[in-house]
Amino acid sequence: MQGKTLVISGGTRGIGRAIVLAFAKAGVNVAFTYNSNEELAKEQVDDLQKTYGIKAKAYPLNILHPEEYKEVFASIDKDFNRVDFFISNAIISGRSVVGGYTKFMKLKPRGINNIFTATVNAFVVGAQEAAKRMEKVGGGSIISLSSTGNLVYIENYAGHGASKAAVETMVRYAATELGPKGIRVNAVSGGPIETDALRAFTNYEEVKEKTAELSPLNRMGTPEDMAGACLFLCSENASWVTGHTLIIDGGTTFK
Ligand SMILES: NC(=O)c1ccc[n+]([C@@H]2O[C@H](COP(=O)([O-])OP(=O)(O)OC[C@H]3O[C@@H](n4cnc5c(N)ncnc54)[C@H](OP(=O)(O)O)[C@@H]3O)[C@@H](O)[C@H]2O)c1
Repeated sequence: MQGKTLVISGGTRGIGRAIVLAFAKAGVNVAFTYNSNEELAKEQVDDLQKTYGIKAKAYPLNILHPEEYKEVFASIDKDFNRVDFFISNAIISGRSVVGGYTKFMKLKPRGINNIFTATVNAFVVGAQEAAKRMEKVGGGSIISLSSTGNLVYIENYAGHGASKAAVETMVRYAATELGPKGIRVNAVSGGPIETDALRAFTNYEEVKEKTAELSPLNRMGTPEDMAGACLFLCSENASWVTGHTLIIDGGTTFK
């Protein structure tokens, strides 16, 4: 994978940060986006370049405005000579999920729309831009992060869970149409993973305890667990895997 380029949204924290590190360790150049943490992103760029000897760059992006991806990719074209991997990872939280991250009877169209825009529409525009570049280098691998909250009940998660189900369907459509261009498209669906997004859950402590109890492996997931799956799906080892959702849940969904 050395010398190839990864483009990933939300590389500053949690799962995105772990993915950036895993790919950098494998010698992959990294173009990642940030939203609020510009300083952190700049520090990260310096660290990655010094520690792993790869090229790294950070770009601002707000996934509530998916069309911004066009500008991001235009800048990436100036800084990198190819795009091989694209991972749609960023997720919104806070004010923009009011009316979306709540109980069913309190859902509001605006909150749901924001979540769908940030998860489904952002995946579509980002993947379209990435695929145009991948076609020029003979193929590539696209991944959307997903969540097992579209398979099992998670309190307040209706908006996110429904958007993840939608993005997994979008992944299968993209895989079917982009396969002939040598582009594989998959989803990595996680059970509860220890990150800021999960710590923002109102019932975080309860989720953490319950996950460890449900998992035959007796622990919650880590960002590195998710990064390993992404690295596999972008490698040649996954050359016949497409249109698939790889579930990384420590065995919690079955129980
Ligand atoms: N945590 C879990 O339990 C879990 C489980 C399964 C799947 N997932 C999925 O994994 C992915 C990453 O989740 P995470 O837990 O790592 O999230 P996180 O720790 O909250 O990190 C969110 C990332 O998204 C960026 N971001 C926030 N708002 C944004 C916006 N409006 N526009 C663009 N970027 C924005 C943040 O950038 P700044 O730092 O610059 O603000 C940050 O890099 C998500 O798709 C999530 O659904 C998570």
